[in-house]
Order: sequence, then structure tokens, then C-alpha cells
Amino acid sequence: MDRNVVAAAVWSHAATVQAPKTHLPGWKKPLTGGQYKTTAGRTARAEGETSGQFLHPRRKVARNNEAPMNPTFTIQDFTEFCRTHHPAYQKPYYAMYSSWWDGITTEPNLMVIPIDDHMVHRGDGLFETFKCLNGAVYNLEAHWARLENGARKIALDFPWSREALTALLRAVLRAGGHKDALVRIFLSRGPGGHSANPYESPRPLLMILAIRLGPAFMDAHPGGANVGVSRIPNKPGLFAQVKSVNYLPNVLMKKEAVDEGVDFMLGFDADGHMTELPTENFGMVTRDRVLKVPKPDHILMGTTMKRALTLAREQLVPAGILSAVEEADVPRAELEQAAEMLVFGTSHNVTAVTRFAGRPVGDGRPGPVWRALSEVFEADLRNPAFLTPVWT
Ligand SMILES: Cc1ncc(COP(=O)(O)O)c(C=O)c1O
Repeated sequence: MDRNVVAAAVWSHAATVQAPKTHLPGWKKPLTGGQYKTTAGRTARAEGETSGQFLHPRRKVARNNEAPMNPTFTIQDFTEFCRTHHPAYQKPYYAMYSSWWDGITTEPNLMVIPIDDHMVHRGDGLFETFKCLNGAVYNLEAHWARLENGARKIALDFPWSREALTALLRAVLRAGGHKDALVRIFLSRGPGGHSANPYESPRPLLMILAIRLGPAFMDAHPGGANVGVSRIPNKPGLFAQVKSVNYLPNVLMKKEAVDEGVDFMLGFDADGHMTELPTENFGMVTRDRVLKVPKPDHILMGTTMKRALTLAREQLVPAGILSAVEEADVPRAELEQAAEMLVFGTSHNVTAVTRFAGRPVGDGRPGPVWRALSEVFEADLRNPAFLTPVWT
């Protein structure tokens, strides 16, 4: 039997067995002003701009009446709905292309995906996230390569060339009108019935979405990040390596972080080695200045970490700031002795971890390796060799 199939079976068994240890049930309860109550009873603030309106406003009026308010909803009714439905959380949605109707919209109510798309009912799809800074997209080829590679691994038909994708991307960003934006690409198996059979879908769907780019973590929290230890079973092999929309474990890790009042949760594989955060990569620096990151087996290889490791080898090792850069299995006990810990990701660049598992990391302040690496990485965000101009 294929190794990945075995790994998946082991993982799903582990998830079943371990799930009761976690606080899975319960969900956020709406408060006002973008705040919500967590399962553990803490009040937290939603990321991004939201109005706190988690319920449809008209539902609030008819709260005790479970019958649909409009049992014969038509396309005309939908037009009227679009005219009147503008919740604050849609404000940062700039523009979206969908191959479903081969068009670009700036109307958030049209930024939707068909319910018979296999990405919706089976999680059968891939995504990518990258950013446009000052009118140019950073490290685009690495993101196209990861998408193509993922499509190959799950045998998802991918008929778009990089040139065609880049032309569509430029059109979306220009339609959105913001030179700083976060881009989300979704590549789904496509609409085509409701079974698990991927051959039901005649063709894949591509969606390209431009939304608001939030501040990088260290800009908003200069003191560094507080990281906890996750209890959610790690995704194995292929399922960790492919950036599919199967993010339930990642979502539950994020929920753990919110419930425990920390910034991120760090996962561990079945052998107890560090893996990654819900949507970021992770590394540690030993006291003798070796930067260690996990072997690629049980993580998604991030474009940020890959580029940062190259910069570290090219600049920080020769400068003597690091003695080496290694991919290694790092157990929890070794992690506890770290001089520094680092987070890597598109949204947060290189971030310093200053608290781990309730204790300070090093002297509890962002350290010299973080300072040097984030400096060279942020300079690289302006490196013309890695920029694809959108507004020329
Ligand atoms: C699970 C996971 N690991 C790592 C990353 C970091 O990848 P990148 O640096 O390409 O953003 C992401 C990004 O979304 C992710 O979802």
C-alpha cells in the first residue's frame, strides 16, 4: 500500500483517539465591535475588520422563527440582497476573479463558490497566499511552483500557464485598486455533483482574490510572539506537504491559541519533534548559533522560510551571526534550551518568539539572529529579482 495512504489512516485513527482530550465543542458567541467569546469564556477580538455581526441582521428580528423568510428566493431577490447586505467584515475584500463565470467582481456578495464544488463538500482543492507590496508581488514564482506541485501530487487538472495566471492576477489587483494587498488563489476540483468521486467534476475552478493586507506581527507586537504547545495531531506526509484546503487541524490549533490567550500554537509530530504553527513555519536557534528547522516530511515548506534559509546561509553564516543552518528533528527538550525561536510566513515575515510554553525564550526579548534575519528578509521584499510588477 502507498506510504501516504498508510500515514493518512494512522493519522485519522490518531485524530479519533486523541480528539476527546481537546476542547473541540462550543463555538464563538457574537458580542459587539468585532469581539467574540471563546469556548474557555475569554473575550477576544476577531482578526481583520468585522462588525461582530455573526448572525444575519434580519435573523436577529426573526430569531424565534426557524422557517425561511423567503421560501421562493429568486435571482431578483439575490440582486436586492446584494444591494442591502454590506456587513463590515466584507470591507477588506477588494476584487475576485472566478473561472466559473470568467470575470472579475468587486462586489463581495458575488465572491462565492458553488456548493457542488468538491472543494466545498470534500475539501478537494488547493490554495496559495502571497502579497503585493507597493504595486509588485513578492516571490511569485515560488508560489506558482508550490501550486503546480500540489496539483501534480493530488492529480488535479491544472490547465493554466504561469503567464495566464499572472495576467489574471494583475487584472484582479488592478480592479481592486490597492497597491498593498494579500492575494488568495483557490484551485478547486470544480463543481460536478456531491459524491467523493473527483472524476465527477468536468473541470477545475480557479479563483483569485485580493483582500486587505494586515500589519506584520512584529509591527503590531514589537515585543515578540507568545507560543503555546498544541495537542492537535499533526498532519502526516503528503497531507502536510500539500497546501490543500483541508485545514481543520490548523483551524483547531488556531482555536487552541485563541482559547489559551497566546499568539500561536506549535505542533509536534508523532515522534515528538517540532513541526509548525497553524499557518506559519517555525525554527529555533541553539546556544551555539545553529538555526534548526524541521525536516520537510511533516510540514508545509513555506516560501518565506525557504527564502529566509537561503539568505541566512548566504549572509548570516559568513558574517558569523549563525554557525550553521540545518534541517533537523528537534524534540521538545532541545527546544526548551533554545537561545531564540523564529516564525516564518507570508503575513508575518520573520517573527521573534519571546515566550514558549509559558516561559521566556532566551532573555525574553527579540534576539540578534531574529534582528539580522528579519533585516535581510525585509530588504529582500524590495529585491527586483523577486518582484513581479503589477502597476508598471
Ligand atoms: C501550514 C502552513 N505552514 C507554513 C506556511 C508558511 O508558508 P508561506 O511562507 O509560503 O506563507 C503556511 C502558509 O499559509 C501554512 O499554511
